[in-house]
Formats: sequence, structure tokens, C-alpha cells
Amino acid sequence: MIKMPIYTPFIAKWDKMKIFIDTADLDEIKEAHSWGIVDGVTTNPSLIKKAVDKLKDSGKSITMEDYISEICLAVNGPVSLEVKGIKADEIIKEAEILYEKFNPVNTNVVIKVPINTAMSENDENFEGIKAIKWLEGGGIPTNATLVMTPGQALMAAKAGARYVSPFLGRVDDYIRLNIGIEFGKGDYHSASTMKRIEAAEGTKLIGSESPADMYRILRDLEIGDEGIYSGVQLAESIIKIYRAYGFKTEIIAASIRNARQVREVAELGVDIATIPFNVIKEMMVHHKTMEGMRKFTADVVPEYRALFE
Ligand code: E4P
Repeated sequence: MIKMPIYTPFIAKWDKMKIFIDTADLDEIKEAHSWGIVDGVTTNPSLIKKAVDKLKDSGKSITMEDYISEICLAVNGPVSLEVKGIKADEIIKEAEILYEKFNPVNTNVVIKVPINTAMSENDENFEGIKAIKWLEGGGIPTNATLVMTPGQALMAAKAGARYVSPFLGRVDDYIRLNIGIEFGKGDYHSASTMKRIEAAEGTKLIGSESPADMYRILRDLEIGDEGIYSGVQLAESIIKIYRAYGFKTEIIAASIRNARQVREVAELGVDIATIPFNVIKEMMVHHKTMEGMRKFTADVVPEYRALFE
């Protein structure tokens, strides 16, 4: 009988691209972890809600404490748990509660803090960044979340966040909605296509306008978000900034919607991608692999089969 190796990705894979699973669904975490490819877990209040709804539907009864403890025990790598507070004092208190309750379970808790807890344009609320600085200073590791710009990522690194989570899919959603493109949740969004559209439209528009009119037209044509045209490009920009200065904050490509995004951030050398289970599965599937399996299985001759009997 062959002895299965004990898989310890948290230690062994520290210098390689890590894969976190982006879910609070314990079944998904356990299943993906059994494949030996999961280096950590990220949760957020919406993912916890989904898991709680599933538990309720199944009629299972388990306390939130026990459920989260099980998540912490299910993997050997970091588990991000998010605070719900708005003000720095609240966030710090909640972070300490989460850390004290769950870090002893498997010493792998990371506290997810929104980079900015403001909920509207008029709300000048820079409490997330303050809390990150404070928590890191006190030895509680943080994951700066809801990051949509390179500037926010720079601030997270300056505050000493252990991780930063740029939301690739939500940036794509926002840019496409802004220019009225229809898209499905898993559709890939290409930065270079956006830039080509912008350039082509600009060329068409330049005619008899004065230089000032031309400038205004081209300025209004900027269809990206302050020079960012896609989520993958956001990750690229953050990698560039962090490498330029040697920031230690690890980049977690988050809000991943499809396998192509994962491939592209891997090519960029991102530290970590946090991936929903459906996309992890998508990364494993190819029709030619299935076709190959059918052929190999059909071609097994009795002489070869006998080797295994
Ligand atoms: C992970 O850290 C994020 O909470 C998550 O990736 C958000 O993903 P979504 O934009 O698909 O909700």
C-alpha cells in the first residue's frame, strides 16, 4: 500500500504562486483542498451569507464559531476573515475578536479590512487604512480588501498590509457598465481591446476640429478608469509599483471570474490568486483532454489490463 504524502503547501510553496479558494463553503474548501492545490481561503460577508443560506437549506445546524473553526482547520494556509465595522476603533475591536477566537484554532487567521469604509461620495471615511496600520503594528496580519485602484494598493502597502486584494472582476464590471457593454459573469474583459476602441474612435473623430476641441474630444473619450482598462491591467500596475520599491505586501488577485484571468495574472507573476471553486474547476477542463481519456480508455488491451490485476 502506497503511503500518501502529507501535503503542506503553506510551508513548501511559499515562494511559488499560491492559490487561495474564494469561498466560505466548507464542502468546496475541503474538496479543492483534497486535490492538494489550495494554499489558503478568502471569505467576505457575502460569501459567509451564501454558506449560511446553504446550511439553512440543508437543515444542518452548526454555530458560526464552529463553522469558521472548521474552515480554519480545513487548510494549512491563511484564512481571511472580514470585519464589518466602519470606524477604525470598531474595526480594530472586531479584528481582535476574530483573531483571538479563531487564530488559536490553526494559527492561520488574517483580518480582511476594506481599504476605505466610506459608502458614498460625500462620506470622507479613511478608517480602513488607519485600522490596517494599527493592526499590523500590533502583529495582527491584514488583507486590504475592496481595492480598485493602484493608488489604494500603494496606500495599503504604505500602511504595512500583509496582503492586498485588487478586485479584478468588479473593475471589469464597472468599466464595461460605464461604456454600456453587455457581458456575462464569466466573460473575459481585455484591456488592449478597450485601448484599440479608444484609439479608433479618436482617429475617426479628428477632422476639422481645432486643437482645443480635439483635446476635449480625446479627453472625454478616455474609456478606461484613470488609465486602468481592465482588472488584469490593475494587477499589472500594482505589481509594477510594488516591485519598484520592494514593498513586502503580497498581491492577491481577487474577484476572479474566469480561467483566462488566472492565466494572465499568473503570467504577470502575481503572488496569489483567490479563485472561486467553479473557476478552479474550469481551469482543469478541456474537451481534448476528455477526448484523449476516451481514446486511451478504449485502447487498453487485455495484456496491459492484466498488469493491474
Ligand atoms: C476576495 O477577497 C473577494 O472578497 C472576492 O474575490 C470578491 O469577488 P466578487 O467580486 O466575485 O464578489
